[in-house]
Amino acid sequence: MSAVSELYEQALAVRTCAYIPYSKFAVGAAIMSASGKIYTGCNVENVSYPCGTCAEAGAIAAMNAAGERLIQDIVVVADSSSLISPCGACLQRIFEFSDKNTKIHLADLAGVKKTYTIAELLPAAFDEKELRR
Ligand code: THU
Repeated sequence: MSAVSELYEQALAVRTCAYIPYSKFAVGAAIMSASGKIYTGCNVENVSYPCGTCAEAGAIAAMNAAGERLIQDIVVVADSSSLISPCGACLQRIFEFSDKNTKIHLADLAGVKKTYTIAELLPAAFDEKELRR
């Protein structure tokens, strides 16, 4: 099985754990880090809506909790008639832990449909350079 297929399977599996009483919209994310390990996350909603977290945020937190900082590939899967892209906040989160070789794979229940770099999805990211005046 290719790395992306393995990631897709894990993203699909973790999606079933999504806590989505409000939106009923389940999302799964699976990251392969630079070391080749896999970290997963699902969306976890809250009755106080802004407290909810996206699937990508969960996977990124798990990667960091293991001491890793670089995303090699990330698969995001949802059941949607039009393919979902990570939300703006999650694109910024992915940007923080990406390089130019990082691949963002967008998937539905049939499989991975499109692959992008972070520069394609977030061309004007707020960069660490902006902190230096
Ligand atoms: N959601 C994600 O988990 N990732 C995304 O990239 C887009 C949106 C979640 C947040 C919320 O729980 C539900 O999908 C509907 O917005």
